[in-house]
Amino acid sequence: MPVLRWIRYGAWAAVCLVLFVVAAILLGWWQTDGPGRTRTVATEAGGSPIGGSFALVDHTGKPVTDADYRGRPMAVFFGFTHCPEVCPTTLFDITTRLKTLGPEADRLQVLFITVDPERDTPPQLALYLQSFDPRIVGLSGTREQINAAIAAYKAYAKRIPTENGYTMDHTASVYLIDAEGRFRTMIDYHEDEAAALAKLRRVLG
Ligand code: NI
Repeated sequence: MPVLRWIRYGAWAAVCLVLFVVAAILLGWWQTDGPGRTRTVATEAGGSPIGGSFALVDHTGKPVTDADYRGRPMAVFFGFTHCPEVCPTTLFDITTRLKTLGPEADRLQVLFITVDPERDTPPQLALYLQSFDPRIVGLSGTREQINAAIAAYKAYAKRIPTENGYTMDHTASVYLIDAEGRFRTMIDYHEDEAAALAKLRRVLG
């Protein structure tokens, strides 16, 4: 019966169309948020809060906790000094944005938390950060302290073996925390410059 056959073809076409639309929406939704894993982080914002307490050591060797920075908005970025691209690019972008914001930016505390404390000792962080805005503070610690900070921020970091050692895969977004320590939003890697500056101005209040 041709009619039945056409109904069957029609049904299959409808199923294919629905699958195509769903795939397109998921793909678009995924891509708008930049590096995939940051989306997972952002969607968890409604659950337990992002951010919170940490106990680490700054690049001058001084032990610090999140309480030391309370009262100032923070821009928190996880990375490592051997990073070939994402970290230097992000720190360069932050350096440029601090300059653009002018004196207002003095109130912002930028924290660069290493996900590779085995190599990123405080002196290594200090050396590395010489290439960027001097207001950026590098934080290291024991592996346990770093893992706790990564978990508090619902960030992601994984060691990837390479031919001559290892590299680190990690969350590429910058977390913006307000002066009361509450997570506000993230600046994604390669985010539009005007949007990134607007987010920084908002968290500065
Ligand atoms: Ni990196």
